Amino acid sequence: MAESSMAATAGAKTPVRSDKTLLRALAGERVDPPPAWLMRQAGRYLPEYRATRAQAGDFLSLCYNPDLAAEVTLQPIRRFGFDAAILFADILLLPQALGADLWFVTGEGPRLSPLTDAAGVAALKPTGAIHETLNPIYETVRILRRELPEETTLIGFAGAPWTVATYMIAGRGTPDQGPAHALRTGDPAAFDALMAQLTEATIEYLSAQIEAGAEVVKIFDSWAGSLKDTAFQRYALEPARAITAALKARHPGIPVIGFPREAGQGYVGFARATGVDCVALDNSVSADWAAREVQTDGCVQGNLDPRHMVTGGPALTAEARRIVRAFAGGPHIFNLGHGITPDADPENVHRLLEAIRG
Ligand code: CP3
Repeated sequence: MAESSMAATAGAKTPVRSDKTLLRALAGERVDPPPAWLMRQAGRYLPEYRATRAQAGDFLSLCYNPDLAAEVTLQPIRRFGFDAAILFADILLLPQALGADLWFVTGEGPRLSPLTDAAGVAALKPTGAIHETLNPIYETVRILRRELPEETTLIGFAGAPWTVATYMIAGRGTPDQGPAHALRTGDPAAFDALMAQLTEATIEYLSAQIEAGAEVVKIFDSWAGSLKDTAFQRYALEPARAITAALKARHPGIPVIGFPREAGQGYVGFARATGVDCVALDNSVSADWAAREVQTDGCVQGNLDPRHMVTGGPALTAEARRIVRAFAGGPHIFNLGHGITPDADPENVHRLLEAIRG
């Protein structure tokens, strides 16, 4: 009750006051101990995830089954008590909704029908058609808002246009995003048309997740690090700015987390340039450096090396505490620098949370 009356009087620019630790950190508050969740916290390192995925049949059937997708989202919350749950889905469902064929090869990763030219871009479905495919994802969000514990924040997400485009153009993951760079420089008109449609579709997709109950959204730009200088500005910063501005215009106060992975120096000023409320950091940057150069603009998230979740031991505890101390002067959300891997030991997640929460 108190929350909703405050929201009503707070005005469009002020985030809703909340008891949820993650929302408080996103609003710029220093929270001690910091709220914590892990990228890929629902995944193959958990036996209960593997069992539910087997029940669904395969990964994509799991993503499109709202009851089972909600179940795997809840599993790590029950087991570990994270401060946030991230919707279980994938960044490649959006290209599928735009008409790309999508399948996953076990042990290798995603495959899509490659998009190589202007005709391929023109053949994509109109943006308004995405909801036909993505409706089950919004249903997962609605179930989660009913079933999550009161203190747990629900995060929705999408891939950033550049990262999604790299998979669409190559038809798979690539070590250097070569095919996407080749289209970007070889046929800039086709490439820009694809980026424009992905930006528009991402706004619609995230907006629908927010309407269904997502309390925060995160934009994953996993391959931002391969964009340099003006290309970084044009294809990483500018789409993140446009998406954030459109979402905040439609849903005043909605917090946005940006993850321009491996942006390095590009992390500096990213929040100011894009309007995101929080910058997620990968583990290639030092926490001390990021506290001085990035956290001065607001909340940061990160950035423990995911290998510690495999190796554990005293190094896990020491490194987690070092990161907590480095960011203790401002708003911080604890996370890994990238997703937890299938070979991680679930016991190490308990050890990590003990190290953070004391
Ligand atoms: O974090 C979460 O728990 C939420 C769900 C989530 C998944 N993928 C589930 C998933 C999220 C947020 C993603 C994001 C995603 N998907 C990214 C951006 C983040 C990153 O990792 O850089 C990217 C690039 C993808 C595309 C993708 N999906 C790839 C390259 C792969 C294969 C690699 C792998 O880990 O297997 C996937 C598959 C995928 N997405 C799995 C999960 C749990 C594994 C599927 C399985 O169960 O076999």
